[in-house]
Amino acid sequence: MAVSTWQVLVFGVLPYVSFALFVLGLIWRYRYDKFGWTTRSSELHERRLLRLGSPLFHFGLIFVILGHVVGLVIPKSWTGAFGITAEMYHIGATVMGTIAGVAALTGLGILIYRRRTTGAVFRATTRNDKLMYVVLAGVILAGMYATIRHQVFGGSHGYDYRETVGPWFRSLWMLDPDLTLIQDVPVAFTIHIVIASILFGLWPFTRLVHAFSAPVTYTMRPYVVYRSRDEHRGSRVQRRGWEGP
Ligand code: HEM
Repeated sequence: MAVSTWQVLVFGVLPYVSFALFVLGLIWRYRYDKFGWTTRSSELHERRLLRLGSPLFHFGLIFVILGHVVGLVIPKSWTGAFGITAEMYHIGATVMGTIAGVAALTGLGILIYRRRTTGAVFRATTRNDKLMYVVLAGVILAGMYATIRHQVFGGSHGYDYRETVGPWFRSLWMLDPDLTLIQDVPVAFTIHIVIASILFGLWPFTRLVHAFSAPVTYTMRPYVVYRSRDEHRGSRVQRRGWEGP
């Protein structure tokens, strides 16, 4: 069966459009909105739900990302060379992926609920961010659906995306997309990939930019010296020039 036009658009064009938007958008945002490059923290407004939802979402997502790197980037033959059979991989990925996905989804649910119900937090949410939350929830829901439908309830071996989605994903990076690989992929995976591509295109224009900020220089900054203003200065002998008023 020949590759259809919509398959060319979805698997051969959309990933590049979204990647271009992602990279150029991040450069644009950094150049024109450097001081708006932030998660727009709302911790001051509400803490209880944030403390629960944020770690659940972020830790869940870290494991989801690790799972994607192993599943999409590492060829099946490599894990095979380490003695990991297809069956072992399938069970491990399905169990760990489902737990990580449920944690990320539950965390995101709490974060969205908090954002909608805490007035000040909702008012500080931009239009782009509202759209981003819908798309992000869509990617995770579609990924969970694909996993549960095809891996948990899809027979003993599930759907082997490491023979199709994985090599197609790697072929994108070789600038030679092999669309024949992805031709018969179940619709659940197609939906997941389409929504994920939209998310990457939106990324630079939302609070998700904070994922690329790490306070590296913070670890090297000089100490902040605090001095007491009151009379109880401890037992140390006062040095000249440090006496109080
Ligand atoms: C921000 C982007 C993405 C997010 C948040 C995301 C999230 C998820 C989640 C929550 C699952 C459910 C099970 C698990 O945790 O592994 C999943 C499964 C899956 N995703 Fe994604 N995904 C993203 C991008 C992608 C992309 C770009 C691809 C392919 C090119 C992809 C391919 C898959 C596959 C093959 C599975 C099934 C994994 C399994 O059942 O072991 N995902 N995704």
